[in-house]
Amino acid sequence: MTTMQALVAYGTGEPAEVLRLETRPVPQPGRGQVRIRVAATPIHASDLHILRGRYGFAPPLPAVLGLESVGLIDAIGEGVDALSIGQRVITVGVTGTWQEFLVADAARVLPVPKEMSASTAAQLLANPLTAQLLVTNELGVQPGEWLLQTAAGSTVGKMVLQLGKHLGFKTINVVRRRAAVAEIKALGGTEVICSEDEDIRQRVSEIAGPDGVSKAIDCVAGQVGADVSRSLTPGGTMIVYGALSTHRQTEPEKLTIPLFARSVIYETKITKGFWLYRWFSTTPREQISAAIAATFKLVAGGTLRIPEGQPLKIQQFSDAVTLAESPAHGGKPLFVF
Ligand SMILES: NC(=O)c1ccc[n+]([C@@H]2O[C@H](COP(=O)([O-])OP(=O)(O)OC[C@H]3O[C@@H](n4cnc5c(N)ncnc54)[C@H](OP(=O)(O)O)[C@@H]3O)[C@@H](O)[C@H]2O)c1
Repeated sequence: MTTMQALVAYGTGEPAEVLRLETRPVPQPGRGQVRIRVAATPIHASDLHILRGRYGFAPPLPAVLGLESVGLIDAIGEGVDALSIGQRVITVGVTGTWQEFLVADAARVLPVPKEMSASTAAQLLANPLTAQLLVTNELGVQPGEWLLQTAAGSTVGKMVLQLGKHLGFKTINVVRRRAAVAEIKALGGTEVICSEDEDIRQRVSEIAGPDGVSKAIDCVAGQVGADVSRSLTPGGTMIVYGALSTHRQTEPEKLTIPLFARSVIYETKITKGFWLYRWFSTTPREQISAAIAATFKLVAGGTLRIPEGQPLKIQQFSDAVTLAESPAHGGKPLFVF
């Protein structure tokens, strides 16, 4: 095979309008590199943010996007001894996964067991690792403590509530649809608040007491993020790691959270950000490896179950990117080859 399909972003704007499917030469691995025949690669919210030009970095365009993948090694460059052709691997921190073949440094791939589904392997890092880091490194949520989280039905949200069960902390899970409540309870969420018909602040005080909770994570921002901040106990911490309520905005200035100044000043509530990309670029290599190994173990051992993705051919990219941000879309769309 000498050519392959690649999904290329040619500009910023509505994802379906700025992406083009192209035939490109199959890349060759250089020294210390392997080539992977990609089996599955997810569409993450961050890919759509990048396409709208409002993410934390803006790659020079045209560019192939995609942040995670699983596939089989089909060619090996000189000087690679620890990997072999036919080995099934995931990519770690490699961008440009929305293509049939990709080349990666050998140090940036990780073998995965045969029993692990392609859907799980393709989603093994970005969301589960984020969930794990938020509740451990960032907030150190202790057994018996409450953790308040928004978009609990997201992949990250489902990882967090499963971690709650595993580590013994209790979760208050905010969802935006009544229909999502039963699923969150079934997965082990301690309490669920439906923002469609319930007041977040009032329900948090009924559940955790009038002082609220000391720890929260939010990926919705806007008024929901503000309500979460108001639900914190004095001195409490909210980590903001996403801004789904502004998702369709192409204007970065719209990414706001109207914090209540009184509680920031007099109750010294803390709002902090978290971004996995920044964590990767500021954390010593051995700590990164240890965190990845811990997440890998939790997923491979079945403690964390990643919702099964929805496979779509890359030719269906327009449907796939629309599905990725449709309400109640369920499993994450995955490009499969
Ligand atoms: N900072 C980081 O390093 C980092 C790393 C990983 C992920 N993230 C962020 O984490 C968030 C979740 O990602 P994911 O891949 O887990 O999501 P996902 O699986 O695609 O799920 C999205 C979820 O968010 C809910 N949602 C969407 N828009 C919403 C809104 N306006 N208000 C309330 N809920 C809304 C959806 O609810 P319905 O079911 O009702 O549609 C769905 O449950 C994203 O913001 C992503 O960018 C950040």
